[in-house]
Amino acid sequence: MNQLDMACESFRILLQEQLQRIESINAEKTDFTTKETVTVGLIDGDGIGPVLMKQAKRVLQTLLSEEIRCGTVILKQIHGLTIENRLTLGKSVPEDVLEQIKACDVLLKGPTTTPMGGTMESANVTLRRELDLYANVRPVAIPEEGIDWTFFRENTEGEYVLGNRGVELPGMAVDFKVTTDLGTRRIAKAAFDYARQNKKNRVSIVTKANIMKKTDGKFTSICHEVAKEYPEITVDDWYIDIMTANLVNPTIRNQFQVVLLPNLYGDIITDEAAQLQGGVGTAGSANIGDRFAIFEAIHGSAPRMIEEGLGEYANPESILRAAVMLLRHICRTDAANKLEHALNACLVTVNGSAAGSTCKEYGDSLISFFL
Ligand code: IPM
Ligand code: MG
Repeated sequence: MNQLDMACESFRILLQEQLQRIESINAEKTDFTTKETVTVGLIDGDGIGPVLMKQAKRVLQTLLSEEIRCGTVILKQIHGLTIENRLTLGKSVPEDVLEQIKACDVLLKGPTTTPMGGTMESANVTLRRELDLYANVRPVAIPEEGIDWTFFRENTEGEYVLGNRGVELPGMAVDFKVTTDLGTRRIAKAAFDYARQNKKNRVSIVTKANIMKKTDGKFTSICHEVAKEYPEITVDDWYIDIMTANLVNPTIRNQFQVVLLPNLYGDIITDEAAQLQGGVGTAGSANIGDRFAIFEAIHGSAPRMIEEGLGEYANPESILRAAVMLLRHICRTDAANKLEHALNACLVTVNGSAAGSTCKEYGDSLISFFL
């Protein structure tokens, strides 16, 4: 077979796999209002991950001490999702680690390092796919400006699902982007349900449908179809380029509420939004599916901070904001509110440099609010 035929053949297989993927989606929703025992997995991650997670664990142990004592909440340490182990085994998420993860209901995860180049997929991408965590929810708030945004990023399709399955021919490389009706409908429904439940009256759909006509075109039309079931909510459409400008336009940016968008645009714009809020160290991120959910910081493992000996000065706010979302997701609303108030009231400044406070000092201060 020549290279072109081989590429066509692998494309046929990719298409088949994607059709099978959507056919096999049928997870049952976990109902945390009735579940007797909730198992919360804890993954330290790489780089600054273990430093951040140490404080996050102390905070959860303190907030949930009564529930842990009587067994309604179990905190379970997950081992082996380290870059060293993953590289040794040549697996983005080793099988035994995935098994430990699947034995939990929800997880709090420190950042994991993604090797640049090569063929190893990012652990995040693998986990989002394996656990079908289709909704990436990222809240960003700047209260003094009246900004309260919640981004709903599609998390299992788009440019990511076949990100390491592109094809190369001499002098040319091609990657694939996949958008499905089902995949779009469920993220759109998640965004509109959130808007309805939280009394938000506007959802902004963000794509580049003028260029990515098939995939983003589908994303837009399905979102509008879903929107019809929410007549009280105003819907508007933006292209991603102008939307990145809108977020730094002080005259209109506080009018956005819920932003609904495909995977890659969502990845990019949420870093911008987090930076506007005070830095990527301040924003939490939820990866939610019907059966499982993983909560994490919006940022990466910051290997440079470790190399420079600044690991202890990493800011745990982002992972703790993720912990607030985790607590809310498992219906521990009182604990979530307590932690959120403490985070808003905490005066310790951790800014990633030795001039700031340490991660532990931040943890100490938070815990003093609960005692
Ligand atoms: C994120 C990250 C990931 C992504 C990386 C680590 C694969 O940037 O969660 O936003 O691109 O989704
Ligand atoms: Mg990102």
